[in-house]
Amino acid sequence: MTTALVGGASAGLGAAIAERLAADGNDLLLWSRSTERLDPIAATLHARHGVKVHTVAADAADPTAAATVADRAEELFGGVDICVLNAGGPPPATADKTNADDWRKALQLLTITPIDLATRLLPGMRERGHGRIVAVLSSGVREPLPNLTYSNSGRAALAAWIKTAGREVAADGVTVNGVVPGRIDTDRVAQLDAAAAKRTGTDEASVRAASIATIPAGRYGDPQEFAAVVGFLAGPTSSYVTASLLSCDGGLMRSMT
Ligand SMILES: NC(=O)c1ccc[n+]([C@@H]2O[C@H](COP(=O)([O-])OP(=O)(O)OC[C@H]3O[C@@H](n4cnc5c(N)ncnc54)[C@H](OP(=O)(O)O)[C@@H]3O)[C@@H](O)[C@H]2O)c1
Repeated sequence: MTTALVGGASAGLGAAIAERLAADGNDLLLWSRSTERLDPIAATLHARHGVKVHTVAADAADPTAAATVADRAEELFGGVDICVLNAGGPPPATADKTNADDWRKALQLLTITPIDLATRLLPGMRERGHGRIVAVLSSGVREPLPNLTYSNSGRAALAAWIKTAGREVAADGVTVNGVVPGRIDTDRVAQLDAAAAKRTGTDEASVRAASIATIPAGRYGDPQEFAAVVGFLAGPTSSYVTASLLSCDGGLMRSMT
């Protein structure tokens, strides 16, 4: 039985990823800020897939989060095979409206906590000769998004870490990759659409329609479609894919890299 850690697992992409990894037969430790939100998901996944599913609360914007999660995983499993780096997004802000306090929080959330967590797990993975680190990124790492200054910047740093760390551990059977969502239909995307509607003085349905018009597939993605890509990178058949950023975006991004 392999073991997996999934962050931001109480909703959206993280919940879909947890379901995918449970269906693939992994025992899980799910984390987000609230075990109240996680526990019903854990019970459902256990009932549906027969795997053991544990939960722990930690706030990725708090500098102690990585230690809390890694220590609990060590107690439960003794070693983690798969770690999905995911949590919530930072608040929207244009570049002229950022401030030092919010930069610290955003970089802790998007960059330092995921890197800290992965860094705690990598030595065990390398020793055992097997491991999978998969980070949820954003299209902003390829094509910076308007009004998402914190997200564009913090995730770009995480993407650079993925490219660096993936090469360092490749010979030890450990892969480190990122998945780049375009627009996948979750609460977060609905909130961003609502914020854009408020900012531009229009309604949410018009923002969504305009956004969909830019996606060649003609729709937002389903979280399960995104989770399938993470499941591939977390599974045994992706053994020669590392230090890569894979898009799941219905053709949205034009960038060649
Ligand atoms: N959906 C997309 O198309 C898309 C596109 C680009 C980037 N992303 C990014 O991908 C990530 C997941 O997106 P999503 O759409 O699944 O968002 P979501 O529906 O808002 O879910 C976010 C999840 O993260 C948890 N979370 C939020 N803040 C946290 C924190 N400080 N510490 C720990 N957990 C936290 C939430 O649970 P609790 O409330 O229980 O903590 C929830 O489980 C986000 O970073 C988002 O910005 C998503």
